[in-house]
Amino acid sequence: NIVPVILSGGSGTRLWPVSRPERPKQLLPLTADETMLQLTAVRTRGFDVASVGRPILVSNAAHADIIDEQLKQSGIHDYSVILEPIGRNTAPAIALAALEAQGSDALLVMPSDHVIDNLPAFHDAIARALPLVAQGWLVTFGIEPDGPETGYGYIQMGATCGELVHEVVRFVEKPDVANAERMLAEGNYAWNAGIFLFRADAYLTSLERHQPDMLAAVRKSMTESKRDGAHIFPDAKTFYACPSDSVDYAIMERETQVACVPVSMGWSDVGSWDSLHAVSTKDAGENAVRGDALLLGARNCLVHSDGPRVTLVDVDDLIVVVSQGEIMILKRGESQKVRKVTEAIKAIA
Ligand code: GDD
Ligand code: MG
Repeated sequence: NIVPVILSGGSGTRLWPVSRPERPKQLLPLTADETMLQLTAVRTRGFDVASVGRPILVSNAAHADIIDEQLKQSGIHDYSVILEPIGRNTAPAIALAALEAQGSDALLVMPSDHVIDNLPAFHDAIARALPLVAQGWLVTFGIEPDGPETGYGYIQMGATCGELVHEVVRFVEKPDVANAERMLAEGNYAWNAGIFLFRADAYLTSLERHQPDMLAAVRKSMTESKRDGAHIFPDAKTFYACPSDSVDYAIMERETQVACVPVSMGWSDVGSWDSLHAVSTKDAGENAVRGDALLLGARNCLVHSDGPRVTLVDVDDLIVVVSQGEIMILKRGESQKVRKVTEAIKAIA
């Protein structure tokens, strides 16, 4: 039985001013009419190699109502949401779900803010992973890198251990540029897609081995959790005391029985306005537009407006975002700097 585990706790600060703490990017319709969370929640529909059970979402407690509303809209009525009182990063979030599931369930851990264009390719990769998952392996999905990105995890692939599945020699989370370049030059490295498949009990065993304090805190918070319909509230005081770390640093870099399924599925981590431009449908001038815009001779621009019409005349390579009373304009290619904007605004507030 596959149980989708959807992680929806991130804050998405690089997509300001659209993404805000009260409604971060995964809860917004950025690439389609559906929100990124809705697109994630229906991503396993039509998978026919194994049965897919009710999904478990792990999210910030502040977003409970929006999540209920969005899942209902997508026709998903049978699910649980574990509501964290505070974010402790992905390793504890996945542990909460692993304790909620049956030990023998295969957890398909999915971030809620990615684009996957080719669903048959994704389903095929899951099918290739399942035999190893049954043997207790932790499985990652590898994307062919197209540059020395420092925001991703890198997976060095070794010998094959299944049909189109490789043993992981080394997992390197978020290298610096020099190391990223070295790995690309060496070859046989993949980017970690941030999607994982493993048995719940295999993950808990790995936590026990590498992060016993984390496991103890999460276990206690679930033992003392409160329930209300689909909502599960881990005990707040215990969860506050849980160490914070990502699954990549806490487990993947340390674990040995890790496999990687290379997959080409039109994957993108919609991490910035530039990557949103890259994955969007564009007009003949390579402009991506959501909202009201009049483009006269503009090329390679992204316009996103929640109200006012944006008119661009003979300009190239601009990102123009109008949202909730804020206007932001920057050069394409510079959108990693948006993080600085949110910091600057906090400083003047
Ligand atoms: N519930 C919950 N609680 N979810 C969380 C939390 C938390 O405290 N922190 C992050 N998440 C969710 C985010 O919303 C996102 O969907 C997912 O977990 C991944 O977290 P990110 O913070 O976006 O991770 P990242 O992008 O820096 O790195 C990960 O993804 C890359 C690919 O996009 C790593 O797995 C990298 O190795 C990988 O390459
Ligand atoms: Mg991310």
